Amino acid sequence: MAGDDGSSAPGAEPPVSELATLAVAPDGLEPSLERTRICSIVASADPGALAGKKVVVGGWVRTGREQGKGSFAFLELNDGSCLANLQVIVDAAVHPLAQLTPTGTSVVVEGELKRPPEGVKQNLELRAERVLEVGPCDPAKYPLPKTRLTLEFLRDWVHLRARTNTISAVARIRDELAYATHTFFRKNGFRYIHTPIITTSDCEGAGEMFQVTTLFSDAEKVEKELKENPSPSESDIESAKLVAKERGEAVAHLKSIKASKAEITASVSELTKAKETLSRLEERFKLKAGIPKKDGKVDFARDFFGRQAFLTVSGQLQVETYACALGNVYTFGPTFRAEHSHTSRHLAEFWMVEPEIAFANLEDDMNYAEDYVKFLCQWLLDYCLEDMEFMVKNFDKTAIERLKLVSSSPFARISYTKAVELLEKVTDKKFENPVEWGIDLASEHERYLTEVIFKKPVIVYNYPKGIKAFYMRLNDDRKTVAAMDVLVPKVGELIGGSQREERLDVLQQRILDSGLPIEPYEWYLELRRYGTVKHCGFGLGFERMILFATGLDNIRDVIPFPRYPGRADL
Ligand code: 4AD
Ligand code: MG
Repeated sequence: MAGDDGSSAPGAEPPVSELATLAVAPDGLEPSLERTRICSIVASADPGALAGKKVVVGGWVRTGREQGKGSFAFLELNDGSCLANLQVIVDAAVHPLAQLTPTGTSVVVEGELKRPPEGVKQNLELRAERVLEVGPCDPAKYPLPKTRLTLEFLRDWVHLRARTNTISAVARIRDELAYATHTFFRKNGFRYIHTPIITTSDCEGAGEMFQVTTLFSDAEKVEKELKENPSPSESDIESAKLVAKERGEAVAHLKSIKASKAEITASVSELTKAKETLSRLEERFKLKAGIPKKDGKVDFARDFFGRQAFLTVSGQLQVETYACALGNVYTFGPTFRAEHSHTSRHLAEFWMVEPEIAFANLEDDMNYAEDYVKFLCQWLLDYCLEDMEFMVKNFDKTAIERLKLVSSSPFARISYTKAVELLEKVTDKKFENPVEWGIDLASEHERYLTEVIFKKPVIVYNYPKGIKAFYMRLNDDRKTVAAMDVLVPKVGELIGGSQREERLDVLQQRILDSGLPIEPYEWYLELRRYGTVKHCGFGLGFERMILFATGLDNIRDVIPFPRYPGRADL
């Protein structure tokens, strides 16, 4: 088990000495439970050494059954630290059994670890001596009974579904892939950069952005406010103006007759008040219900940021600014696309890993992409085998084989032109979308290339410029750009990347040709104006990577809180 031998393998617990210092509770505070995670018991490399030890464990009852005519109960306890449950035996004398056995009940138990009788699957079981805490669960109402539930059903229970074997295994795999990602980039000299979630530039230029605005809530507030407290009339303003004028004249008069300082001060204070009242009324007079407009269009100058803003579709453009200063960098964060895709491969909110490499070209880009995907696959084989075996048993027999194959054999690399030629020759399958040079490859084409023709990951490069984003470097043929997509079995497109256009004039022209305005990209052009360098990068769809690894079919099951058209629970 990771950590037992003092190694610092991923998933290892913090060193025991650190926990020990925490165990001394300051005065007046409840002492720490010093809970032992179930993974360190059930997967112990030396169960004999643990037998006889006293531990406290906490978890949720997966199955509980009374035995021996109600004299004791077996609880299968899971704490999410690993797939396996710990068997806990509780005597009726220790705690009322009926409270503990319903599926979903949480318990904290102190007891002694014992070797079970021969022939029992578990290495160790726990004999309860004290039940320290119980979180009851009404079996008549609990929505996740122990029967097998479909993943689709579980999507209606995103706040509870992490308590199932499948979703908790996915969560651990996801966490390992995130840790592996940081490890890979650190090993290769990359710095982690946090790019903004709110942006004013559309990276992909595809217009699939969610707008960030307070105009609607502001308009609602104004509407409510005006209902409760109607805005002043023009005559209210006129009379306030009159009062201010009179007060002004009064001050002037007192000054002209050289009145006392006290009298003048009092009069000035009256004038100030009158001016304040006037400006408040004028301010309120301007309040109008509805969205502010100017020249018939929504006036975004009145919005929160003083201009239109969006949720980012990609951190690439911003991370390029750091690549052009720090060299090798990456960003890893949530990205958002307002596509109305209802497919099993698209989410409205998904996570993307985006490295950006300075002084590098398309070939470097492909090399990094390939190395990174291989590294992720090998990581799961090294550190997540139990959960991967669960996937093999329950969802995809070939999942582990696939990881082994991908981590050990080179990816195929073909140009887009070659890929189209291969697809045009296909006779054993009729594609829904006809193939010809210039089309954007559809998922069916991508999967055919990787699953049927090559039977392994394929990197397709040099795509027609018409179907790719403006920032991709124009090739000498002036028809294609230095783009590359990594296609993998089960998923299709896993990675999209390119060498970036580093030539100022060419980039300007590409922005215009793509029908985009220059102004929002001025800062991006400056990277080319001042010390431009060849650079490249790519984006890996993190959920697609998890689909690929686990063999699960739907992307909505590999992100904790899926967002897609019509759904954003919690
Ligand atoms: O190919 P994409 O659109 O590339 C970019 O956004 C570049 N700016 C990346 C870069 O060069 N830094 O997206 C990259 C990857 C895709 O290959 C796919 O795996 C994933 O992001 N992706 C999605 N995943 C889930 N749901 C969606 N709606 C996705 N759209 C793209
Ligand atoms: Mg793409």
